[in-house]
Amino acid sequence: MAEYTAQQLLDIVNTVHVAEGNARVRQITQRIVTDLFRTIEELDVTPDEFWAGVGWLTRLGASGQTGLITAGLGFDRLIDIRMDEADERAQRAAGTPRAIEGPLFVAGAPLSEREVRLDEGEEPPRGEVVVMEGRVLDTDGQPVAGALVDVWHANELGRYSHFDPDQAPYHLRRKIRTGADGSYRFRSFIPPGYAIPPGSPTAELFDALGRHGNRPAHIHFLVVAEGLRTLTTQVNIPGDSFLDDDFAFATRDGLVVTLEPGTPAAGYESLGISAPFTRVRFDFVLQKALSADEQRPEARMDRVAAA
Ligand code: DHB
Ligand code: FE
Repeated sequence: MAEYTAQQLLDIVNTVHVAEGNARVRQITQRIVTDLFRTIEELDVTPDEFWAGVGWLTRLGASGQTGLITAGLGFDRLIDIRMDEADERAQRAAGTPRAIEGPLFVAGAPLSEREVRLDEGEEPPRGEVVVMEGRVLDTDGQPVAGALVDVWHANELGRYSHFDPDQAPYHLRRKIRTGADGSYRFRSFIPPGYAIPPGSPTAELFDALGRHGNRPAHIHFLVVAEGLRTLTTQVNIPGDSFLDDDFAFATRDGLVVTLEPGTPAAGYESLGISAPFTRVRFDFVLQKALSADEQRPEARMDRVAAA
């Protein structure tokens, strides 16, 4: 009858099937199940510990926050490291470094031509007024007209619209189409850092790990242009104490911007600038796409939704 040792059970779990199924899913599942069997045996995981873990996964799923746990455990950065390594091997490492998308992108932000006020003209400003401006370029230094720059950041409390019921849809989320000279600019305020939601299953795990869940202040970008490879990146605000202690391990050299004093000079009226402000200059440099796939807006949420 069916009396198994742990090893016999594992072998059966890993091989039983009555239809072809999906070979790749089977391969990955086999590996994960094998590693988990080993973990339970080698660490002598108790039934209470095992079912507490299952309960936590259930709460995590019910909270809709499964995406919040991957960055803090290093997986998002791992995927970027592996793409960087593949680029190195293919001798095509160039342009603005990629940085993790994070779990909080929302597709479909309102589109503006060349410039926009992310703050929607709010008075008083929710923080230090900033104008970020620059161009989208290809790796030959040619300006890219008509590139679409999605930009999103947290509010003054470190929370993102869509995931925060207190914010209007697409608050602090916009899409900007670059002008003929590849230029874009937007006005907003410098966001504070972000922290994982207190009391959430994610926070529960980080508390148990004795870890904090803070990210330094940052602004996200997803840049898409015809013939070029989609760039997902973020810039960091200098001086943040979490710059080198990001719970998502996502900060990178070359992505910490310089804050310059801006003069309320001619040229910024359309952004409502009438007092000294902070200026950030940043060009996005995109590689040539080698396939149609590479120029897709590869937003992670789209991929999840399409699956
Ligand atoms: C997470 C949140 C972010 O705002 C971000 O940029 C990256 C990760 C997170 O909660 O995992
Ligand atoms: Fe973020």
